[in-house]
Amino acid sequence: MNKRQRPLLGKKILLGISGGIAAYKCAELTRRLIEQGAEIRVVMTACAKEFITPLTMQTVSGHVISDSLFTPQAAASIEHIELVKWANLLLIAPATANIIAKLSNGIADDLLSTLCLATQGPIAISPAMNVQMYQAAATQNNLSIIAERDVFIWGPAEGMQACGDVGLGRMLEPDALVDLCINFFASDAKILSSVSITITAGPTQEALDPVRYISNHSSGKMGYAIAVCAQKMGANITLISGPVNLSPPKNVKLIKVLSAKEMHCASLASLKECDIFIACAAVADYKPARFASQKMKKQQGIDDLMIKLVKNPDIIASIASVEPPPFCVGFAAETQDVKEHALKKLKAKKLDLIAANNVSITDQGFNSDQNALTVYSKSRQFDIPFADKKEVAVQLLTIISKHFTAKE
Ligand code: C5P
Repeated sequence: MNKRQRPLLGKKILLGISGGIAAYKCAELTRRLIEQGAEIRVVMTACAKEFITPLTMQTVSGHVISDSLFTPQAAASIEHIELVKWANLLLIAPATANIIAKLSNGIADDLLSTLCLATQGPIAISPAMNVQMYQAAATQNNLSIIAERDVFIWGPAEGMQACGDVGLGRMLEPDALVDLCINFFASDAKILSSVSITITAGPTQEALDPVRYISNHSSGKMGYAIAVCAQKMGANITLISGPVNLSPPKNVKLIKVLSAKEMHCASLASLKECDIFIACAAVADYKPARFASQKMKKQQGIDDLMIKLVKNPDIIASIASVEPPPFCVGFAAETQDVKEHALKKLKAKKLDLIAANNVSITDQGFNSDQNALTVYSKSRQFDIPFADKKEVAVQLLTIISKHFTAKE
């Protein structure tokens, strides 16, 4: 079998199993990853061994499992360092609330948590826990912290849980995890090698006076995730960002702007070297007609204040109208009739692709760590299921790359 048939050939995955009922699916997960060509080594926490036996995992993986920092062979070879150097990916499935908390806080009190701290390679986790534990503020906070540190968060899925509750918290099925591993390694393939990409991200701020502005809730997370993944895929990135609370991605040219006007100017300037333009920013459609140079004062006896707004330039529409235009990808955040609005924008703005999402769905889109998109070309539609924004970015960039190459 060749690499096309076994896309994980040569990939080394360190599977960390923590103690949740979903651990019983790890035998199946291991078998399927091996079928796709991966080599699997397994690390189990003490609790994981309550749910699936080390012997089962040894038999399916073909290797003795690792479970302790203190066995003589572990001490002799400094096993945690050896294991993380060996792995191309550390996949923790199931990832309990406990291991997520340890990851977020840098706690290293057993082999698996020590491996997490010792690795410089990528980590992906597949959360699995009761819905209440998943939704707990502490867990959500821990997940945000590790997402910021570039840990891939795969899942959880929604449905009936072992305890009888229904909701988010089920570990993704082995097939879905195998697909995510395949996509993850595809993102390592330099499919955008030497392609120059400009990405707009975040909100814009439209000043009313020196202390006030009109803006929106865009976090910039989707645009930054696209920038990080496209850079990994070999592209040269110019990231034009409105004001956000995110660390600058590595090896990316970052241009910070405030207003739509500044974003427009920076976007036009980036066209000198731009093959693909991805407009992810939530640009304010209107700005105050007048900027008050001094702070506007409360008017005694006046209860209504009218502020006249004027239209901002449509950045992506103007980029798509230059000759020759770069390959243009827009976003459409909608609350209803998503497909209809997206297709209208695709045509009106002369885009090559548009990525639409329904921002009325909780946990999806604006300000969240996850997203789901439907990408439309003039004639086709591609669904990217609900996932971590980095994972969504990989799938979106794969679609963009195929269409861009076909158009060239
Ligand atoms: O028309 P609407 O704002 O919904 O279009 C969204 C798409 O257009 C996004 O890709 C957004 O970045 C882009 N846009 C823009 N300039 C604007 C408004 C939106 O580039 N002034």
